[in-house]
Amino acid sequence: MSLMEMKQGVIEAQGLVKQFGDVIAVNNISLSIRQGELFGLLGPNGSGKTTMIKLLTGQLRPTAGSATVLGLDVKKDPVGVRERVGIIPEQETPPSFLTATEYLDFVGEVRHIPDVLKKADWWFDYLDFNDKRDVLCKDLSRGTRQKLMFTQAFIHKPTLALIDEPLINFDPIMQRKVKDYLTEYVRCGNTIFISTHILEIAEEICSGFAILHKGTLLHTGTVAELKERDQHLDDFFLSLVEKGTHG
Ligand SMILES: Nc1ncnc2c1ncn2[C@@H]1O[C@H](COP(=O)(O)OP(=O)(O)O)[C@@H](O)[C@H]1O
Ligand SMILES: [Mg+2]
Repeated sequence: MSLMEMKQGVIEAQGLVKQFGDVIAVNNISLSIRQGELFGLLGPNGSGKTTMIKLLTGQLRPTAGSATVLGLDVKKDPVGVRERVGIIPEQETPPSFLTATEYLDFVGEVRHIPDVLKKADWWFDYLDFNDKRDVLCKDLSRGTRQKLMFTQAFIHKPTLALIDEPLINFDPIMQRKVKDYLTEYVRCGNTIFISTHILEIAEEICSGFAILHKGTLLHTGTVAELKERDQHLDDFFLSLVEKGTHG
């Protein structure tokens, strides 16, 4: 890897714009995420978080601007980006007609993951859904489907994972496990980008964060800075969003 590449962030977005008809979902956003960060994209419903994740994973083409992810241009090589990263889209469910095991086997084929079912064993244990291995996905609860989505995103140990609302369907025990997993994952030098409207999650596990409001970036900073100022993220967030609404 050249010096140039080492200095470049894992995610670099320059003036990203996404417009749907009259709605500007993402409005001129630039972001730089370094390796080893657990970065939280925060914002109320409809602020553009999901759109932003779709742009960064090549699922949507930007109206304007550009981005590189792991050094790959999301416009020129969206498939390359999707091959290298782990993704958990918002409210996505695995195919209804496959069992949990069949789905992971399928993911293994597509992603060329050796011994995928052996790796799946670890996940069935860790996320405590051994008894659901051979159940059709259509018959799984939301929480169990989310466990399966979590497994497919991390089973190939991507150096970067993007997760849209990671904890939304999990109970407190599972939330704890997932938070611990994510924290340890970045400690090993990987990078994670999450979107969430639940500020406590960000405050607890994120290093860096950005606040989106109506498609516009209101603030980028670190959770450590806030803690130094003895400021809670929810107060900070509300004051910014208020200003964003009025100004
Ligand atoms: N495919 C689409 N077509 C039209 N409007 C969309 C589409 N996707 C998102 N939007 C609009 O873009 C805005 C941002 O949405 P979204 O990125 O889903 O926000 P968030 O994830 O923060 O809740 C919303 O106003 C939403 O209605
Ligand atoms: Mg969303």
